[in-house]
Amino acid sequence: ITAEKAGFDHFMLKEIYEQPKAYRDTMGARIDAASNKVVMNEIGMTPEHIRSIRHVHIVACGTAYHAGLVGKTVIEKLTRIPVETDVASEYRYRAPIITPETLVIVVSQSGETADTLAALREAKRNGARVVAITNVVGSSVAREADDVIVTWAGPEIAVASTKAYTSQLIAFYLFGLYLAQSLGTQDASYIADVVAAMQEMPNKVEAILAQADTFKNAAEQISTHDNLFFIGRGLDYAVALEGSLKLKEISYIHSEAYAAGELKHGTLALIEEGIPVIALATQEELFEKTVSNIKEVKARGAHVFGLNAEGETELAKVVDEVLTIPATLPLLMPALSVVPLQLLSYYASLARGNDVDKPRNLAKSVTVE
Ligand code: G6P
Repeated sequence: ITAEKAGFDHFMLKEIYEQPKAYRDTMGARIDAASNKVVMNEIGMTPEHIRSIRHVHIVACGTAYHAGLVGKTVIEKLTRIPVETDVASEYRYRAPIITPETLVIVVSQSGETADTLAALREAKRNGARVVAITNVVGSSVAREADDVIVTWAGPEIAVASTKAYTSQLIAFYLFGLYLAQSLGTQDASYIADVVAAMQEMPNKVEAILAQADTFKNAAEQISTHDNLFFIGRGLDYAVALEGSLKLKEISYIHSEAYAAGELKHGTLALIEEGIPVIALATQEELFEKTVSNIKEVKARGAHVFGLNAEGETELAKVVDEVLTIPATLPLLMPALSVVPLQLLSYYASLARGNDVDKPRNLAKSVTVE
């Protein structure tokens, strides 16, 4: 068992550290470095089919659903095709409007989640084309989908998903760019810029991992609390949801992730002296708005940890502690900003003496509806 963990204390930590490799492997041959274009030979859709897509549905459970929330923004931004995102256990029961012009993307690390598989079948029954993003070649989801984008994260053992989630983000970036190339919705030069920035991501994740002690220190501070908040806007909000889920899963600390601008519509009532708030402020366009929301919680006594990107100097003036990660394009930021949150959850769980790899009541793969 120790050997399998390659010297790490837990599978989760090992898997967090495997992310630079998972990014490289998932990009792999899908990036043509000479032209900075995306190549996806696994997608069998014809250009005509791609042009016929009128709406995209992304369906998944748990962490994979959170990857889908990022995927929605990525695909909408790159292609301007409307995207809806559903948790798989809700999808079928809301009579979703699925037609042959719908592209349904199911996301599943294991490829065996019962609700996700049922959603895939419902989509196919209604004539939609189904693309699966999965980490397991030959899984049920992979076998039944029309096209399969494999995330090459390698086996994920810890119940709390880390490298599978970030590889799913990479898969969404690649697929979004691929669609944009096929549709001509983005300039080749913009696509080349995104692709170039993606290739720098593994090194940037390594830089984050190299400062793990900073996040360990923050984790030890929050580990004595029973309640906290994550806030953010746009893609920061999607990452906040994943950060909050991760923390709940393994530390058992209750947290809520809130769209920063929505706090004042109710949840602000729960902010009291000393409560930790983790504020993500990595999205340039939304920065000023997020800062005003940080001031709202500061005024009520919150202890704010602010997450920003290198080069940004204003956040330090309004928060109690700044956590800084390397800069990248705002669209790609989730694949960096989630890493400190993974470390935060890991070290908070450790500080509380929990079984990090096997949290109570949870299973790695859920094959019942
Ligand atoms: C379980 C796991 C989660 C996971 C979810 C979906 O609940 O504990 O970590 O995100 O299932 O799993 P999948 O294999 O479909 O990605």
